Formats: sequence, structure tokens, C-alpha cells
Amino acid sequence: MTILNADAVEVISHSHDQTARFGVRMGQLLRSGDLLCLSGELGSGKTVFAAGVARGWGALENATSPTYILAHEYHRADGAQLHHLDCYRLRGPQDAESVGLTERYEAGVALMIEWPENVRPWLPEDGVWAALRHIDEDKRSLRLHAGGVRGAQLLADYRELIRT
Ligand SMILES: Nc1ncnc2c1ncn2[C@@H]1O[C@H](COP(=O)(O)OP(=O)(O)OP(=O)(O)O)[C@@H](O)[C@H]1O
Ligand SMILES: [Mg+2]
Repeated sequence: MTILNADAVEVISHSHDQTARFGVRMGQLLRSGDLLCLSGELGSGKTVFAAGVARGWGALENATSPTYILAHEYHRADGAQLHHLDCYRLRGPQDAESVGLTERYEAGVALMIEWPENVRPWLPEDGVWAALRHIDEDKRSLRLHAGGVRGAQLLADYRELIRT
């Protein structure tokens, strides 16, 4: 594992399953109101990571649905919710509204967002921002940085967790 500086962490994944496991660890730390943004080109592994997050978070639903869904709402036995939004097709304010970004954020659910750059003006800074990158067919770089106070705490906890 490479630690870049206090606010960023980079890990290399060698397989689909390893990326999912990196996601599981993040999911174990994610709380209501947290924001996790996932950037990276098509096929870089955002959805694989997100499925791991949902599993680690404790979602009752199976996270392996292959269908294209704009907003996937996961539930946990204690009533908490984790919403996974794919903003690939979104472009502007109406789109951000159509996916209910503000409402979801104000409802205090944990939010996971693919293609956050498409709705950047409607997102808060505080959270963990991940950028995934192809290295080769099965190898990916996952670079995470923190925004805000909670983001910094979450990333610091994540760094500790993946070390063990
Ligand atoms: N190390 C790896 N980590 C993640 N996925 C990998 C890895 N190696 C190979 N893959 C494959 O790459 C693909 C990643 O697909 P995924 O849907 O997660 O990408 P995505 O970033 O969500 O793309 P999109 O922008 O289209 O939603 C999967 O088919 C997965 O099996
Ligand atoms: Mg995806």
C-alpha cells in the first residue's frame, strides 16, 4: 500500500474480488450522512467497489444486480439506508434534481455516487473521493482522498483498517 500524504491513500488491486474487498472495508466504516464518490473511466471498477461497500455496510439486499439502475437503495436491519447513484447520464441541475440528490442528502442517508463530476455543483465537499484507474486487464489503481472533517476521519480509519 502506498500512502501519498495525510489526505490521500493509493492501493493497487490485482483482481475483481480484491477491489470488492477494498469496498467491503470502506462499507464497514460508512455511516448515515457519509458521502463516498467514485470516479474513473468505464470499466475501471466503480460498481465492483460499490457492491463491496454495500456488502460491508450490511445491506440486506444482494448487491450483484447486473441491470442498469440509476439509484439503488440498500437497507439494513437497523433501518439505515445506503443509496448508490450512477450519474453517468446526468448533466445538469434538472438531472441532479431528477435523481433526488438534495433530498437524499438531506434525508441523512449514506450516499455512494458514481460519476460525481456530472453533478459536482450539487455535492458537498465533505466525504471520501475515490479515483479508479486501469493499469492492465485485471489490475486497477484506487486512489482515495478526503474532503472535509468527516472525510478526513473516514479516510484515516480506512487506512488503519486496510493495514490489518
Ligand atoms: N482489479 C479489478 N477491479 C475491479 N474490476 C476488475 C478488476 N479486474 C477486472 N475487472 C473487471 O472490470 C470490470 C469493472 O466493471 P465495473 O462495472 O465495476 O466498472 P465501472 O467503473 O462501474 O464502469 P461504468 O462506468 O461503466 O459503470 C468488471 O467486469 C470486472 O470483473
Ligand atoms: Mg458502474
